[in-house]
Amino acid sequence: MPYICPICQTPLLQLLTAQSYECSNKHRFDIAKEGYVNLLPAQYKKSKEPGDSKEMMRARRNFLEAGFYQPLAQAITHVIDQHLAHIAKPHILDMGCGEGYYSRQIELLAQHDNLDLYGLDIAKNAILAAAKKQPAAHFIVASSERMPYSDAYFNLLLRVYAPSNNHEIKRLLKTKGYLLTVTPGPRHLWQLKEFIYQDAKEHDTQAPLPEGFANIASQRVRYTITPDQEQRMALLQMTPFAWRATEPATHAIQQAQDLEIETDFTLTLAVKN
Ligand SMILES: C[S@@+](CC[C@H](N)C(=O)[O-])C[C@H]1O[C@@H](n2cnc3c(N)ncnc32)[C@H](O)[C@@H]1O
Ligand SMILES: [Zn+2]
Repeated sequence: MPYICPICQTPLLQLLTAQSYECSNKHRFDIAKEGYVNLLPAQYKKSKEPGDSKEMMRARRNFLEAGFYQPLAQAITHVIDQHLAHIAKPHILDMGCGEGYYSRQIELLAQHDNLDLYGLDIAKNAILAAAKKQPAAHFIVASSERMPYSDAYFNLLLRVYAPSNNHEIKRLLKTKGYLLTVTPGPRHLWQLKEFIYQDAKEHDTQAPLPEGFANIASQRVRYTITPDQEQRMALLQMTPFAWRATEPATHAIQQAQDLEIETDFTLTLAVKN
């Protein structure tokens, strides 16, 4: 079984008589009509609506659906096809999946036609949107700090700009399982940064690997995009430097003519030893 109880950590079984999961201690979790399960008990919530807001989620969805990060989705899918081809039905988890864009793209683009896709995010509105759009995938509301899945269930974990917990990553992966991380490369969204910072600097923000993992491949994916005014504002909202942008900088970004923006992603593939 993929899921464990978020309260007592015993396996969750789907009840045949009801649309719910239950553990041996009778903790029960209903399956929403959209198909997702909320496995984030109220006592673990730090706020009423943790994670990205509905507005942020919508902005990200509109931007991603316009295809600007499709080459990234393609590169992610290619890694999956390359490394999981020999496994009949690999289990893949997108941690901090947001509204599920990458999960949908993987289903659409993968040559492997029997992938078992899972997604987790702390924002309920994002998971609801993800589940609606992709009934074949399994989405839950949960925190990456405590991921309510059985030990060694997954062949691959994907983390795209999302918080994570090394201990949980290690616990969830099978031996020889993969961790695929996407982080911004040095030139990522350079032209936006130039509006925001006096002295923009190139940063390589590679996430440190959990202990016991070995890096097996790194790849940079770079290209330029030309989003329109509204899409540029959505893109800005998706970035961590949005809150740094002053009102004049935001206005200048919106008003710029045909602004070409560099993207630069680093994909790091590591294996659990
Ligand atoms: C920058 S977004 C990236 C979303 C998606 N991976 C993408 O690239 O489009 C970060 C996501 O992490 C989620 N998040 C924040 N804290 C989290 C946590 N503790 N556990 C799980 N998800 C979390 C947010 O709700 C948001 O959807
Ligand atoms: Zn329980």
